[in-house]
Amino acid sequence: MNNSKINYKEQKTAIVTGASEGIGAAFSKLLIKKGWKVIGISRSSSKLKAISQNLPSNQQSFKYFSCDVQDLKKLKNIAKEVGAPNLLLLNAGIYSPVNASETNLDLYKKHLNINYLGVLNSYEAFLPGLIKKQNGHIIIMSSVSGWIGLPKAAAYGPTKAALRSFAQSARYDLNPKGIKVQLCSPGFVDTQATSINDFYMPGLMNVNDAANLIFKYMSSNKFEFSFPLLFSIFMKIFSCLPDKISSYLIKKFII
Ligand SMILES: NC(=O)c1ccc[n+]([C@@H]2O[C@H](COP(=O)([O-])OP(=O)(O)OC[C@H]3O[C@@H](n4cnc5c(N)ncnc54)[C@H](OP(=O)(O)O)[C@@H]3O)[C@@H](O)[C@H]2O)c1
Repeated sequence: MNNSKINYKEQKTAIVTGASEGIGAAFSKLLIKKGWKVIGISRSSSKLKAISQNLPSNQQSFKYFSCDVQDLKKLKNIAKEVGAPNLLLLNAGIYSPVNASETNLDLYKKHLNINYLGVLNSYEAFLPGLIKKQNGHIIIMSSVSGWIGLPKAAAYGPTKAALRSFAQSARYDLNPKGIKVQLCSPGFVDTQATSINDFYMPGLMNVNDAANLIFKYMSSNKFEFSFPLLFSIFMKIFSCLPDKISSYLIKKFII
């Protein structure tokens, strides 16, 4: 099913979860530069405040709320206060590498609660406004790690695979209601989240370049978009290979 058509000239308000750092912060600043009003949500009010204060002249274009995406009640209150956005970027997330030969239940639960259920909480809070308007656009932030299980990603990867499956299903209900759904599945982007990786990250992309690509793809009809291009093509092929071959290559080149 095709995503519904949206006129971006009339679309000026975005809600961005995880707006205080990394991709969410870069994307929020880009939208503001393009004339949008952004409502940023994340836990750290000091980081959100710093973003607001460092905006050149249009500080009123950035409204922010300190809120944990695990807090559905607070998200619903924010939705009541700000109304329905034109764009909802469900981006807040965490990443910790894990060794699955150790017991890690707390870490698995933490990833699930923030990366998956946190997205659903935000979705739940803002959805009624979008449905009422019969118009809007939701971008869910997944990852190429959702395409195939990678070493050290036993906590992170499953949450991104779950988001992919959720978005694939949800669009069939949302598109007929005038709501466009897209899935963003980046490779490596240079942020504090990836700075903890002690391995070579092929195609590591600058965060502003990533924000520019999200902006470019959001006006396309693609359901899922990914970048950097070469790395994502490689990963897509990799994820389609028979398991015997892909697991052999992973053991040979990554572990
Ligand atoms: N960087 C990459 O290579 C890459 C690749 C693929 C996908 N992604 C995805 O892109 C998204 C952003 O990643 P990033 O690299 O920009 O990470 P980042 O720099 O660590 O930023 C993560 C953002 O999420 C917010 N956040 C984390 N936990 C939260 C919570 N419980 N409630 C509300 N906000 C929360 C953080 O703000 P506070 O700490 O202030 O709450 C921060 O603003 C994530 O979903 C990540 O999985 C990243």
